[in-house]
Amino acid sequence: MPNIVCVGAQWGDEGKGKIIDVLAKKADYIVRYQGGNNAGHTIVVGKKKFILHLIPSGILHPQKKCVIGNGVVINPEALFTEIDFLKKNNISIKGRLFISDRAHVIFPFHPLIDSLREDKIKNKAKIGTTKRGIGPCYSDKMMRFGIRVCDLIDEGSLSEKLDYLLKEKNKIIKHIYKAKAFDFKEVFKQYCDYARRIKPYVSNTAFLLNKEIDKKKSVLFEGAQGTLLDIDHGTYPYVTSSNATVGGAITGTGIGPTKIDQVIGVVKAYTTRVGEGPMPTEFPPDLMKQIRIKGDEFGATTGRPRRCGWFDAVVVRHAAVINGLTSLAVTKLDVLDEMKTIRICTGYRYKKMVIKDFPSNTNIFSHVMPVYEEHQGWMENTKDITSIKKLPPNAKKYLKRISQLVDVPLSIISVGSKRSQIIIL
Ligand code: GDP
Ligand code: IMO
Ligand code: MG
Repeated sequence: MPNIVCVGAQWGDEGKGKIIDVLAKKADYIVRYQGGNNAGHTIVVGKKKFILHLIPSGILHPQKKCVIGNGVVINPEALFTEIDFLKKNNISIKGRLFISDRAHVIFPFHPLIDSLREDKIKNKAKIGTTKRGIGPCYSDKMMRFGIRVCDLIDEGSLSEKLDYLLKEKNKIIKHIYKAKAFDFKEVFKQYCDYARRIKPYVSNTAFLLNKEIDKKKSVLFEGAQGTLLDIDHGTYPYVTSSNATVGGAITGTGIGPTKIDQVIGVVKAYTTRVGEGPMPTEFPPDLMKQIRIKGDEFGATTGRPRRCGWFDAVVVRHAAVINGLTSLAVTKLDVLDEMKTIRICTGYRYKKMVIKDFPSNTNIFSHVMPVYEEHQGWMENTKDITSIKKLPPNAKKYLKRISQLVDVPLSIISVGSKRSQIIIL
């Protein structure tokens, strides 16, 4: 199989987990390259639903090897909860999980500061984060006093760096947020325990992956979040703190761009978003309720209801350009089965102008009005269709129009959460 990057082409939760699970069958390595346990990737195997936050979705395929790359921020508690959950479900990770020695580590003060900030701020500065400490941990990384996995497993280094970091964080926690400070000894002891547990999985994963690619092994890069949540290319400041786009796959693993053969953009047949920030095609309340229930649109990580709206071709076209998408995987087509008419946003109206390109200014983006074209629904069940030919003609037309507007060919259509509910083109 070629080396494929799979990215979210909207605001996350596009169904990347499901698509990765399908593609993983033919890959040798499945690699997470950015984000952390803010992600929630759902895979349905038989009657069992797995939600993975940190470990690549390929772990559910017994022979596949999984890597957590240097670009990921790792909360050890979340990692071991996930490892224990997999073990309980008889999924062996022995010899199959590799963790980068350069990945940064989330400490308990990161989620606390994330939460305190989010709860304290009531105005526009609220982002609606997952409160998993992602932003605070990446901030420390960029400030160059973050603690990496290689420091975690070196007791001397951990003690020195944690002492410095905790003194600063405790000042913020006590004086700015008036909350209870952390005790160095407690945190240190807890993280020494994590270090012992994590050590067997730790290696130079950039070296490992490059060596394996040289041996013609194939790598599947599992993006987390989505293009519109990317720190550079998303709806800043209502974004996450990493590069969820294709560039993140390169910096977050140490693999050169010339080794990547395909970039698949995963999109829902409509749009969803969790958290704050503009979303021009957001449904009115009655339609929102209908699609939220039909699509089971509740966050896989926080359980928050997702905001739902029509397919926004301007957003996905932006994702196509930024990521150099070679194809699209469209998920949740079945959720639109009962819609009489379906809309697609083809541009935005802003002060008497029609904009076709995604605006960088979030203030402008907050005030655009979507320009829609209307399509006839198909009013048929698509859930068990496995060939594009058998899809209702209006469903085919809808998909063709999406591909045309985004200017990217389709490669996969998903018509249900189960493994079998898939159309490969
Ligand atoms: P991810 O973060 O991109 O992996 O997506 P999530 O797992 O957060 O959310 C996608 C949700 O849609 C999950 O509940 C999936 O089980 C479900 N899902 C994925 N593909 C389909 C599909 O084609 N149809 C339906 N009805 N559900 C799907
Ligand atoms: P997956 O990988 C959807 C959103 C949060 C918030 C913003 C910043 O499952 O698609 P953060 O905690 O990252 O600082 O929050 O990003 N967000 C996601 N939305 N899917 C995700 O991941 C997300 N990860 C973060 O809701 O708006
Ligand atoms: Mg998700």
